[in-house]
Amino acid sequence: MVGDRHPVVELKACAKINLGLRILSRRSDGYHDLITVFQRVSLADTLTLETRKDGIEYTGPALTGKPEDNLCHKAALAFRSRFRSAKGVKIHLDKVIPRQAGLGGGSSDAAAVLRGMAELNNIPLDHGALLGAAADTGSDVPFFLLDVPAALGQSRGEKLRVVKGLDAGMILVILKPDISISTEWAYRRIDRLTFDKNDIKIVVHDFLEYAGGKPTAQMTNDFEGPLFKTYPELGTACDLMMSAGAEFSGLCGSGSAIFGAFSDGNTAEKVARKFSSPWLSFICRPC
Ligand code: C5P
Repeated sequence: MVGDRHPVVELKACAKINLGLRILSRRSDGYHDLITVFQRVSLADTLTLETRKDGIEYTGPALTGKPEDNLCHKAALAFRSRFRSAKGVKIHLDKVIPRQAGLGGGSSDAAAVLRGMAELNNIPLDHGALLGAAADTGSDVPFFLLDVPAALGQSRGEKLRVVKGLDAGMILVILKPDISISTEWAYRRIDRLTFDKNDIKIVVHDFLEYAGGKPTAQMTNDFEGPLFKTYPELGTACDLMMSAGAEFSGLCGSGSAIFGAFSDGNTAEKVARKFSSPWLSFICRPC
């Protein structure tokens, strides 16, 4: 934090990929129970938060659209409703993580807003109300608030247990096609839930046994079936990364981005170069 009169805090908001994402059942509240491993990656947005006397204010070209649809705004409102005496805040966002890609960019930005507002208002990061504000803001926000490299997520994603994730030396290629997918839309494509109680036990057991490194055979992503059917180019790009030397590849969350995990940086760079506009390609690391 710098300065006394207008305290400012700068935060990195990293993206995530999912090492497997199994959708277990549909719930009566409209959400789905799932099991996944969130893996934080070094592709990141940057946020700067500054205290204001009152209100929530934005700067930066990336924060457009209706404020009520914006996860940063939702997070700031959730913070202020839980901590009534909180000061106002001015939020500046430098956006790098592609939107509607399954990379958790909006959720990570929201968690950074909560962390920043907590720091500016002297609230400890493990405060129960802060965790509540994160879960209110979105299913993936608690993972980013936890501020760890990897965690097993259950329930709608907010029930977390820290796990060892990918080796830090791994190189990740993230490819984003010119396709935007809303999480809600992706869940609507899951029309058939195939698990019975016994299958769920087996799948959950496999995730609970995960001890870092390459995901096990059960740790696939249930969005891949319907999404690769609608957008075959996603599956083709995963296959291409595998035949070019990836250890494993898959869909990022509910898409549309895909990732390939490589142990060799040169191979990763070669693969990333194969994808030009309208694809976006990023090279990053587990972090
Ligand atoms: O929690 P979040 O706002 O990120 O969720 C966006 C949408 O994704 C929800 O409205 C819901 O349709 C769907 N979703 C779900 N089950 C989850 C997480 C999200 O059905 N576990």
